[in-house]
Amino acid sequence: MKANNITWHHMTVTKKNRYHLNGHKSCVLWFTGLSGSGKSTLANAVDYALFQQKVRSYVLDGDNIRHGLNRDLNFDEDDRKENIRRIGEVAKLFVDSGVIVSSAFISPFRADRQLVRRMFEQGEFIEVFVHCPIQVCENRDPKGLYRRARIGEIPQFTGISSPYEKPDYPELFIDTNEMTIQQSVQRILSYLKEKQILS
Ligand code: ADX
Repeated sequence: MKANNITWHHMTVTKKNRYHLNGHKSCVLWFTGLSGSGKSTLANAVDYALFQQKVRSYVLDGDNIRHGLNRDLNFDEDDRKENIRRIGEVAKLFVDSGVIVSSAFISPFRADRQLVRRMFEQGEFIEVFVHCPIQVCENRDPKGLYRRARIGEIPQFTGISSPYEKPDYPELFIDTNEMTIQQSVQRILSYLKEKQILS
């Protein structure tokens, strides 16, 4: 922390008050996985399903956030760490505001995800490992980035020239090579009901 002389201000409206108003609890669905694994697609589909059920939800997406809030960051280890730290803080604000926030970032490093997990209360951080074999991601190559990474045009590309550390104990494991989007969405919604985040 750089600043001195700052004091935490306690607000009158609490998170619990907001739960009551909304009729559901809040949490972060932290989608992690390789580029092209389906994180954004899934986060978007979950968000749409929640919206249709009149649940307050929002998506934070890697490519989009890197156009704005995190436009000053690149893909070296320090900047990825800072990328994830900031998103963690933003997600925490959303959760505090009563929203179910889906974050779709590669977040390749276990320690960085762990750091974000520790920002939250028990049960609020739901790690969703979006698994897909790299060969499949590479075949999908929706943005043509794998091809460019293979010929050396993109340095430090996750899965090719930069590591992806799989989650050891994710709350949810989704294999996008085996399951349809609708099946995956249902799995996630069932989990939210089981944990009584949704009623
Ligand atoms: S993270 O590693 O810091 O979590 P983030 O999810 O924000 O990554 O951004 C990943 C997206 O940026 C990818 O989906 C891809 O479109 C793009 N990208 C550009 N360069 C790279 C790179 N070197 N490694 C991975 N993704 C990259």
